[in-house]
Amino acid sequence: MIRLDKYLANANVGTRSQVKKLIKSGDVIVNDKICTDANIKIEEESQVICQGNVIEPLANCVYMLNKPEGVISATSDNEYRTVIDLLEKEERKDLFSIGRLDKDTEGLLLITNDGALSHNLLSPRKHVSKTYFCVTDKELSLDEISEMEKGIDIGDDKKTLPCILNATTLEEACSTYNIAMGNADSLFERIDKLSGYSSFNVYSYLLTINEGRFHQVKRMFSYFGGEILYLNRVEFAGLKLDMTLDLGEYRKLTEEEIRIIRN
Ligand code: URA
Repeated sequence: MIRLDKYLANANVGTRSQVKKLIKSGDVIVNDKICTDANIKIEEESQVICQGNVIEPLANCVYMLNKPEGVISATSDNEYRTVIDLLEKEERKDLFSIGRLDKDTEGLLLITNDGALSHNLLSPRKHVSKTYFCVTDKELSLDEISEMEKGIDIGDDKKTLPCILNATTLEEACSTYNIAMGNADSLFERIDKLSGYSSFNVYSYLLTINEGRFHQVKRMFSYFGGEILYLNRVEFAGLKLDMTLDLGEYRKLTEEEIRIIRN
């Protein structure tokens, strides 16, 4: 269900204030009755006519974006570019990201207009899995890895849920996942520039968690005294980041991928 003014604005009938005026002046018919209330909720099966034209609802869609660092996971912002700004060409006003990645995190972010799908994937009860490629300044001992995997107290009401943590190498991760377009050297260079570290004193891990708390990965490493130098989400809800998407690029999910995330 969606408000009438939003429904019309999403369908590019006009801006929110233009469509409000149209509604007020009696130009909009909902289910055979003139409707002058911009706030009424439009059901999926409602028929909306504006100035004689039937206004079809926008179809649901889901995009996979390879989020670059430096953009924020919001629909609009006065200061920073947002992930939705990257999709400008679509000319759709109804899109939002399913959850958030930090400004400095890269990788797989789904963008949609499907509120029910987003709600399901973000529900804490669904335990949707997320895998992150993490580069940190702290090498974890086997005991620390096992402690993290069992669940740790990062300052919330509850300990973190059991997770899977595997040490990896940049080269290995770059050949499995679309990180820095498969170029480990360029990623090393970026980390060097960012923080003065070199490939000899950074450690790489693949971490799979089944929840999504605020800054969760950073806080989990911080618990052991480690700082995250680079973070890339390489898997989400059973989907792998598409190897062919460059940073900032996106594409529609295939039917098969939509089936996977709906399950
Ligand atoms: N955990 C973090 O700390 N940051 C992210 O962007 C995602 C997960």
